[in-house]
Amino acid sequence: MGIKDEYEGLGALGTGDSPGEMLLSMTEQDYPAWTKLQELYDKDHTKLVLKDLFDADPERFSKFSRAYDSPQKDVHILLDFSKNLINDEVFSTLIQLAKEGGVETARDEMFAGKHINTSEDRAVLHVALRNVGNEFKINEAGADEVQGVLDHMTDFANKVRSGEWKGYTGKPIDTIVNIGIGGSDLGPVMVTEALKPYGKKGLKCHFVSNVDGTHIAEVTGECNPETTLFIVASKTFTTQETITNAESAREWFLKSAGDKSHVAKHFVALSTNTKAVTDFGISSQNMFKFWDWVGGRYSLWSAIGLSIMLYIGPDNFKELLAGAHEMDKHFLETKLEDNLPVILGLLGIWYNDYYGAQTHALLPYDQYMHKFADYFQQGDMESNGKFVTKDGRRVSYQTGPIIWGQSGTNGQHAFYQLIHQGTKLIPADFLAPIETQNPIRGGLHHKILLSNFFAQPEALAFGKTEEQVREELGAQAENEALRKSKVFEGNRPTNSIIFQKLTPRTLGSLIVMYEHKIFVQGCIWGINSFGPLLRSPRSASQALTFPLGKVLAKRILGQLDDSSKVVDHDSSTTGLIKHYISRA
Ligand code: F6P
Repeated sequence: MGIKDEYEGLGALGTGDSPGEMLLSMTEQDYPAWTKLQELYDKDHTKLVLKDLFDADPERFSKFSRAYDSPQKDVHILLDFSKNLINDEVFSTLIQLAKEGGVETARDEMFAGKHINTSEDRAVLHVALRNVGNEFKINEAGADEVQGVLDHMTDFANKVRSGEWKGYTGKPIDTIVNIGIGGSDLGPVMVTEALKPYGKKGLKCHFVSNVDGTHIAEVTGECNPETTLFIVASKTFTTQETITNAESAREWFLKSAGDKSHVAKHFVALSTNTKAVTDFGISSQNMFKFWDWVGGRYSLWSAIGLSIMLYIGPDNFKELLAGAHEMDKHFLETKLEDNLPVILGLLGIWYNDYYGAQTHALLPYDQYMHKFADYFQQGDMESNGKFVTKDGRRVSYQTGPIIWGQSGTNGQHAFYQLIHQGTKLIPADFLAPIETQNPIRGGLHHKILLSNFFAQPEALAFGKTEEQVREELGAQAENEALRKSKVFEGNRPTNSIIFQKLTPRTLGSLIVMYEHKIFVQGCIWGINSFGPLLRSPRSASQALTFPLGKVLAKRILGQLDDSSKVVDHDSSTTGLIKHYISRA
């Protein structure tokens, strides 16, 4: 099935919108490079065979790899993209696509604070949160308050970490519980896991996100109310899951503490909504603010990162921001063909829109990064999982891919079989540090880990022919089924990303490299990567613009106690709800 056919197939799923309301986007006509890429694909894709491309060009690795070194040389990242199904012409046309797609203009507008989130008329300024030394001149209300909030967070973190901040019985805090969901959870979880070697020993970090009472119950079961600090992280402070969990945490806490005045010592809030925070009972002094131009999935650099700062300390948090800022500068100042986020974004488009790849795997060979794919699952899929362009037309091409993955080598014993020998094309990024944080047994583990990191992309690219299998099998080669089952066709594309060591600064740079990759793709697809989010409606009028699932959940919540109230559903949903009520 070609890309166009596939799109038509998807279109048949139907949205309920009449064609008059949702016209097809005209991107093919807008960008000559888009059309040229299709021609190149049609003409050349059978010739884009990695083995042949490498045989034909001994310089391919140096031609298609880029080293990034931060100004102080304390962050080193090598992106090897030579094992991609590209040649010079495809690569230069992809770069041309970025130019025609207005990536540079959109990027400059984002950094300048222009309201590029058009549907909400907002600036998109996560870059302002890590604008070290105020290098970027940003004109947007609140951008000048960033340092003040960082100072507030630093002061608080120092007090908690030093033991100066005391709980209601005079004991220091030894446990923090971040209550948040989506972007108010995934970033802090991912970073605290990734930077464990930099974490404060003896300070336990928990994260509660799911509204399933099991989550908060299991966590509070491990906590002592006298020494636990709850961080309620919610940009809007209206998110059903977070507020329900926060209320339950407060109830649990007050069962021991009794007096409501003790809440102030054990609950702080990270939010843009002062009124809702104070209504909840948290003093505005214990609220760490941010601004509407910080998108949830780009918010770990803001007050949402308080749990990170508490755990790794203010100095390491500043390092994280510095690494992020340096990658921002790289993205802003480096020409497109050497620009890591741009290259990653364009290669993704090549597979997504021409090869019909549905997914993209993130495979870090660093156990500390075991939440990296989860984090970018939200970052990428919530940003670019959209079928409507900025100007409201339905796209006629594929947009954001399915992002998934897990840390190597576990994935090798789970899903790599399908990547190697399955029927689907799965472009993948392999990431690994040169230096491990745990060089146990003289670095033996790390060498084994890295040998796998190098071997997998090689095997994916070059495979194993039937002839090679025949030689390996010897007499058994007569068994045709066995012989064929051992053939690896190869030609499966990967990026290899090697960095020196997973320091706070390096992690900051890696995260931002992917953030801007998402930006580049959204820009070329003409969608609003920063547009309205999936959340619960706060009013009847908002319900019109909020996702159906959340709206229905609200309605069903009011029906779960009484079977006579179960109305206005299809027979399946009605049957399921009534079955539940009859047995609850
Ligand atoms: O899932 C939608 C979403 O809006 C995310 O983008 C966001 O990170 C999350 O919900 C939580 O929102 P809030 O921080 O307002 O509680």
